[in-house]
Amino acid sequence: MRLDRLLANSGLGTRSQVRGKITHGNVSVNGTVITDVSFHVDNDDTIMVDGEQINCQTKLYYLFDKPDGVLTAMEDKRLPCVADYIPSELRSKKLSPVGRLDYHTSGLLIITNDGELSHRLQSPKYEIPKKYLATFKGLAWTESEISTIASGFTIRDKGFAEQIAPAELIPDGEPVNGTGRAFLILHEGKTHEVRRIFAHFDKEVTELRRIELGPVKINEDLDDCGSLRPLSEDERIQLLKAAGLD
Ligand code: URA
Repeated sequence: MRLDRLLANSGLGTRSQVRGKITHGNVSVNGTVITDVSFHVDNDDTIMVDGEQINCQTKLYYLFDKPDGVLTAMEDKRLPCVADYIPSELRSKKLSPVGRLDYHTSGLLIITNDGELSHRLQSPKYEIPKKYLATFKGLAWTESEISTIASGFTIRDKGFAEQIAPAELIPDGEPVNGTGRAFLILHEGKTHEVRRIFAHFDKEVTELRRIELGPVKINEDLDDCGSLRPLSEDERIQLLKAAGLD
């Protein structure tokens, strides 16, 4: 990670304040004064600022492939939850999932302690696309339904009206014996949004899996369900970039 980002993440000031400290020669890495703000530092480097060793609150980024039947929560007394998949050595790192997948949705969850990234990935302002693969019961999608979804529309439920932002529906072939598959790309994250969009068009989602979040992708199949791994350097950089944090 860049030295200026790590110091800013550690609460030592804004990015421009910590850059000032670095360029003025107040920061050393492993005993050598570093004045290059973009100098690359690793987790085990010893970093001193104004003669004091800093406690690096290093930001961590993981990709979790949530299985169906797991709660998107860091604690639950009754049900299996995301925390059950986090190894004990990471428990003190203040990790939490970005956004929420339903209990019966599987797939891609970013788990991080980078609060700013988490906020931006969930904010409609940054329009980070989220791609889902749904198995549903119902008739084939019509061109008219697909274009209604592409333009955005209103769901009315029990007297409430909710605007659904334009999204992209891509059928995966035709339904067979009343069961079909389709991809849906959303740019916002309303509660149960995929299921509610399908229901609006008389289709019942029977399985749902998130397979992409911005530039990060996982397998469509369920082979890696339950796995937790750090984002690769490239995935991390692309994700931060998509959220305007490069
Ligand atoms: N939309 C849903 O309906 N459920 C999810 O888990 C995510 C998006």
